[in-house]
This record gives sequence, structure tokens and C-alpha cells, in this order.
Amino acid sequence: MRRVIITGAQGQLGKRLVQEAGRRDQWEVRAFGRDDLDITSQAAVDQAIEQWHPDVVINAAAYTAVDQAEEDRELAFAVNAIGPGFLASACAQNGANFIHVSTDYVFDGASNRPYLPKDPTNPVGVYGASKRLGEKAVSRGYNEVTSGSKHWIFRAAWLYDSTGKNFLTTMLRLAEKGQALRVVSDQLGAPTAAGPLACMLMDCAEKPDVLDAGIWHYGTVGPTSWFDFARAIFQLTGKDVEVNPCSTADYPTRAKRPAYSYLDPYPLMQKWSKEPVPWELQLKECLDERVEL
Ligand SMILES: NC(=O)c1ccc[n+]([C@@H]2O[C@H](COP(=O)([O-])OP(=O)(O)OC[C@H]3O[C@@H](n4cnc5c(N)ncnc54)[C@H](OP(=O)(O)O)[C@@H]3O)[C@@H](O)[C@H]2O)c1
Repeated sequence: MRRVIITGAQGQLGKRLVQEAGRRDQWEVRAFGRDDLDITSQAAVDQAIEQWHPDVVINAAAYTAVDQAEEDRELAFAVNAIGPGFLASACAQNGANFIHVSTDYVFDGASNRPYLPKDPTNPVGVYGASKRLGEKAVSRGYNEVTSGSKHWIFRAAWLYDSTGKNFLTTMLRLAEKGQALRVVSDQLGAPTAAGPLACMLMDCAEKPDVLDAGIWHYGTVGPTSWFDFARAIFQLTGKDVEVNPCSTADYPTRAKRPAYSYLDPYPLMQKWSKEPVPWELQLKECLDERVEL
């Protein structure tokens, strides 16, 4: 049996990781929610990894409240930057591989072509800045040569699932109110379901030789806008909701967001000899699975 520790196990991605790892025969899983393991405590992180000797640690813990982060700066940096650094160095010291998750919000959105992992970053808000610092802390905390183990950082965008709190469930909840909705149409990216991302992370855990260490972009074929994402949700669920486009300027938020944050999904999928999935298909699969639950 191989051993995997999943941190942030009660979150949207964390729950899917626990489910995905549990499905795979050869894995023994230790799932840590925030109450079991606070990743901002170096002592707790060291103890968890030293005691259980995992083959791999997957970090799904994060501070993800993008607007609130503008005020909770210190907490956002502690969870998204300092904690991942603790995890990475504990993994390196104990010979465990480490898988971390980051975000499209590390980019400023000024690009006119899909973002590649090596493109320069320039976050426009506190959340993105804290996640970018986390990427650096993970790379710094790791010494592959001396530890003999590897680390990977998977950037993903616009994560959703059929349960929990995310854009999909928010749209379905708002649809029940029977009112017309306005949704931003000038931010482009690609919606990504948490289940398939969890599957990719476990594939990487299982076959560590496939990918070089470092940053990879996971995503779907896009881009699209939040407006078109909302329209697809209502179309696929047969909900008759009036949705009107609005601009970012019409819908002010505390945190600035990149206008374009489409992550190029091809380089990663080529390594697995797979085609990336169109975002609409992934959404349909997520909704179909929801009906079956
Ligand atoms: N959500 C998105 O749209 C999105 C987009 C791109 C990338 N990502 C990235 O994808 C990853 C997974 O995100 P997600 O959507 O699953 O987020 P999520 O649902 O907010 O889950 C994050 C989990 O981390 C926990 N957590 C917070 N502080 C912690 C700490 N100090 N120690 C341990 N656990 C802690 C949270 O617990 P509490 O709920 O109790 O605070 C929560 O259960 C993150 O790295 C995120 O940055 C997300």
C-alpha cells in the first residue's frame, strides 16, 4: 500500500481528493480537515508527516475568499504562502512527494493568448499574490536532489462542483428566486470541475515519473465568460432564467480580478497522451453525476 495525506480535506477539492484516493485500491488515505491539521503550524505539519511517513502529500488547504482576502491579508498569506512552504520542506525532509494547487489569479490578465506555466506572473489582488508566494515557498522548500522526492504545483481556474459553495451552486440557488440575473461577460477563463482535477492529482501521485517537477496548468478547453458559463448551467439544467451580460465595471468587487486568465491545458494533457475536455462537456458530466447521486 502507498500512503497519501490530504490536507484541506473538508474543502471543495479536498473532498473530491479523499473520494478519488479512496476509490484506488493501492492507497491508504489520511484526510486532514482544518481542525485536524492547521497547515500554518509548522510543528503540527512536521509531526503529521514525520509520524505517518506518507509517500505523497496533496495540499488542498487554502484561503480562497478572494474579496475578503483584501482585508484578511495576514491570514491569506499565512495559509496560502507560509503553510505550503512548511508542507514542502517537511515532505522534502521525509522523502515524500508533494502536490500543491495554485490558481489562474497569479496572472494579471493582460495576455492575449492562453497562459503557459512559464509566463510572467503579476497578481492583481491579495489572494493571487498570496498564492504566487506559496508557489515560490513550495519550490524553495524543496530540494529534490537531497530528498530524492519530487514536487508539483498544479494551477487551476474557476473551480466548481455540484455541491458546496461555488459558481455553479450559486447560480442554481439564484435560479430558484425567479429573478433576472446579470452576470459578468468581460472576464474570460475556463471553468474546471473539482472531480476531474482530483483525478489528475491522484494520477500524478500514482505515476510520479510522468511529469517533471514544477508548475503545470490543468484546465478545460475554453475560454469562456462567467455569463456564458451561467447560460450553459441554466440550459443544461432546463431552468428558464433570464440572464443578461454586464461588465466588470457594472459589478464592482473589493478585489480586482484578471480580465483574461485562460490557462493553456494542452502541455499537461500531452504528457498523459490525452486531449483536454471542453468546459461544456465537463459541466454536463458534473451535472449528470449530480442527478445520479
Ligand atoms: N475555488 C476556486 O475557484 C479556485 C480556483 C482556482 C484555484 N483554486 C485553488 O484550488 C485549491 C482548492 O480550492 P477549493 O475550491 O477546494 O477551496 P475551499 O473549498 O475553500 O477549500 C479550502 C479548504 O482549506 C481549509 N483551510 C483553510 N485554512 C486552513 C489551514 N490553516 N489549515 C488547514 N486547512 C485550512 C478550509 O477550511 P475552512 O473552510 O474551515 O476555512 C477549506 O476546507 C486551492 O489551492 C485554491 O487556491 C481554487
